[in-house]
Amino acid sequence: MKIGPYVLPNGLAVAPMAGVTDRPFRQLCRRLGAGYAVSEMVTSRRELWTSLKTSRRADHEGEPAPVAVQIAGVDPAEMADAARYNIDRGAQIIDINMGCPAKKVCNAWAGSALMRNEPLARAIVESVVAACAPQGVPVTLKMRSGWSAAERNAVALSRMAEDAGVAALAVHGRTREQGFPGAAEYDTVAAVKAAVGIPVIASGDIDSPPKALAVLRASKADALMIGRAAQGRPWIFREIAHFLATGQTLPPPATSEVAGWLHEHLLDHYALHGEERGVRSARKHIGWAVRALPGGEAFRARMNTLTGAETQLQALREFFQALAAQHPQLPPPAQPSAPAADAANDARHDVSIRHCA
Ligand SMILES: Cc1cc2nc3c(=O)[nH]c(=O)nc-3n(C[C@H](O)[C@H](O)[C@H](O)COP(=O)(O)O)c2cc1C
Repeated sequence: MKIGPYVLPNGLAVAPMAGVTDRPFRQLCRRLGAGYAVSEMVTSRRELWTSLKTSRRADHEGEPAPVAVQIAGVDPAEMADAARYNIDRGAQIIDINMGCPAKKVCNAWAGSALMRNEPLARAIVESVVAACAPQGVPVTLKMRSGWSAAERNAVALSRMAEDAGVAALAVHGRTREQGFPGAAEYDTVAAVKAAVGIPVIASGDIDSPPKALAVLRASKADALMIGRAAQGRPWIFREIAHFLATGQTLPPPATSEVAGWLHEHLLDHYALHGEERGVRSARKHIGWAVRALPGGEAFRARMNTLTGAETQLQALREFFQALAAQHPQLPPPAQPSAPAADAANDARHDVSIRHCA
């Protein structure tokens, strides 16, 4: 699949997830088979650009091309400035967020709330495309299927976006009203795909290789975006890529391999966030990685009491060494690992979603 001049190595993307898909996590997913990654969203509000959170999100050191940055906001001129600002800091693709359901975004008419205001959505798209065009930077748009079951207007917005110069679309098959609970549907993604000539990426509940194939078949989308199922399981990208290419299921990774990936991820994570903050924010990644493994829940509880990077790494080494002695290959989940179907996870996501802006 192509976005503007960029030919992606495959049609598997890491979904932008605020508070999750920072640069270390995106890089890990790219190494393990994702062909594309979009940054966590960056606010268009200029006064926040120098905040630690936003400047970390605009750090693309060592990230493979194309570097895609998502921006969120409500003001067309501000959004254009945010696009230029991020292009100056390395963005090669600018993605406009019309999908985030978070209240603090929606109250300000940003995120998915923009889907309810088509004239404003169009003004934002036109303004961002005009800012990016002179630099040859393609603009993409990520949206939900609509605001509510009664206002499912993704097709109209997609036509508008294509007409205004957007290079690709990502559609999460849920309405804003749905939030995260309930199942994603792909009829709207299929309708969008049939309505436009630009590439369409399907998003929502893709949590296994067979599900990926089913979504591709149902939607006829050009590519897939995987979010929650990659949390703690970033090798899902290579599993899906292998299955789509061969129809075969890859064996589970070696337990020692998983331990190595997690170790490297954490080193990158501490380097970006600093030790104190990094140790705290690493806990969620560790929790996702171990939650479905034997002894994982008890380990997760213990992990939350540990401080210091070396202590955290040492505890992980011991956990995985003990696991590898029993299970040289990563054992199948001891409990359902499909986050999309897991109510407890939905609650956790709602917490994370607050970090959207
Ligand atoms: C914690 C979390 C944060 C998210 N943050 C963003 C975001 O910043 N921008 C965005 O467009 N979508 C965001 N999303 C939505 C995802 O990109 C994706 O469309 C959605 O989770 C459905 O895909 P999944 O079922 O594979 O997770 C977020 C989702 C989660 C769970």
